[in-house]
Amino acid sequence: MADTDKSATLTIDGASYDLPILSPTAGPDVLDIRKLYGQAGVFTYDPGFTSTASCESTITFIDGVKGELLHRGYPIDQLAGKSHYLEVCFLLLYGNLPTAAELEKFEDTVTRHTMLHEQMYNFFRGFRRDAHPMAIMTGVVGAMSAFYHDSTDITDPHQREVASIRLIAKMPTIAAMAYKYSIGQPFVYPRNDLDYSSNFLNMCFSVPAEDYVVNPILARAMDRIFTLHADHEQNASTSTVRLASSSGANPFACIAAGIACLWGPAHGGANQACLEMLKEIGSVDRIPEFIARAKDKNDPFRLMGFGHRVYKNFDPRATVMKQSADEVLELLGVENNPILAVAKELEQQALADPYFAEKKLFPNVDFYSGVILEAMGFPTSMFTPIFALSRTVGWISQWKEQLGDPGMKIGRPRQLYNGESLRDYSDIENR
Ligand code: ACO
Repeated sequence: MADTDKSATLTIDGASYDLPILSPTAGPDVLDIRKLYGQAGVFTYDPGFTSTASCESTITFIDGVKGELLHRGYPIDQLAGKSHYLEVCFLLLYGNLPTAAELEKFEDTVTRHTMLHEQMYNFFRGFRRDAHPMAIMTGVVGAMSAFYHDSTDITDPHQREVASIRLIAKMPTIAAMAYKYSIGQPFVYPRNDLDYSSNFLNMCFSVPAEDYVVNPILARAMDRIFTLHADHEQNASTSTVRLASSSGANPFACIAAGIACLWGPAHGGANQACLEMLKEIGSVDRIPEFIARAKDKNDPFRLMGFGHRVYKNFDPRATVMKQSADEVLELLGVENNPILAVAKELEQQALADPYFAEKKLFPNVDFYSGVILEAMGFPTSMFTPIFALSRTVGWISQWKEQLGDPGMKIGRPRQLYNGESLRDYSDIENR
């Protein structure tokens, strides 16, 4: 972020204050208000951070108007088409695409960290058997700080690196175990002869009673889902990770906070909510009824998988996801899947409706991901855990970046207080 010659002038009660304007490498200029309170004694008010840059970052860039998503400068459609998840992890973590030797070493390191501390298996067994896998993941990832003491010192670059690798490597194991636990099947240990996504599918779907052979096309689709969710700049869960980290909390606690935030239906929980909505709609003829409900101000119902804080155009991830849905369903011989038919028709009808056009509401990444995941055999409760495991690298990359920032401060927003002003305590008999 470069200083510019430009500045803005703010006038309050006749006094003027110059606010520097910073120019990023991409995106709109940024008004620097860091000294505003000290100089003018006023706060800014921006609930939901609709106009506020909370940090400086070099990782991911979104142009919401164009519908563009870049990781370290590379467009997401190129990464989803030509790269693969672990290469994208390297890119996000270290800033550049790896050489062949770097990639081999990175893949080997991740592969050799996929097993969990054996005592964690006991920890899992403490959850109710019908616990939501996101509840389990939040608890288990937070508990990693109780099992991996040698990677919680955030001031030590080596420990930070070990924690990063551990989280990326173990998250599929944790997500798969949460799934196995919820369906009463034995945990499946990771296998080092399988790639990242094949290993995840194997840990989810193999059982001791018979062999499970990972279909390479499904593994590729899984990998693409991971890639499409890898990072998304300062969204709610990433900002949660950064805020937790700003106090100096350990990495496992920070990522657990991110998982908790992701769970909500306005964020990562939307993929589960979207598929449940598509099932509730059930058939194409009921779509107008649901569109009418989404438009009704007196009805809290929203079209899940539609709309985005930043994208005011197609979410570029949704475009890739839609192609993937077609491929996966064709492979599985379920091209005539009624849920996909509802999804496609709903998309058409909503896009043609002036309400959605005027508010610039387009399908987001979650609109088609649930259709694919369900066709692959995942229950809806696993959709958000899969998002969480994919996003772990983004959270970790942003966390590392923040810790390397010499200007890092504890995150501490101010408020617009509208409560009672000072009053005296009254004894209970006088109230
Ligand atoms: N269906 C119907 N109307 C909608 C929808 C929707 N899905 N999304 C937004 N709107 C309307 C709002 O009612 C509002 O209308 P108004 O201006 O008349 O009051 C307007 O569009 C703007 O919506 P906001 O909620 O103010 O926009 P915001 O940026 O705060 O919310 C969000 C973005 C949370 C994603 C919202 O679009 C939404 O709830 N979508 C459905 C849930 C979803 O798919 N979430 C996944 C996001 S992507 C991700 O996290 C991976």
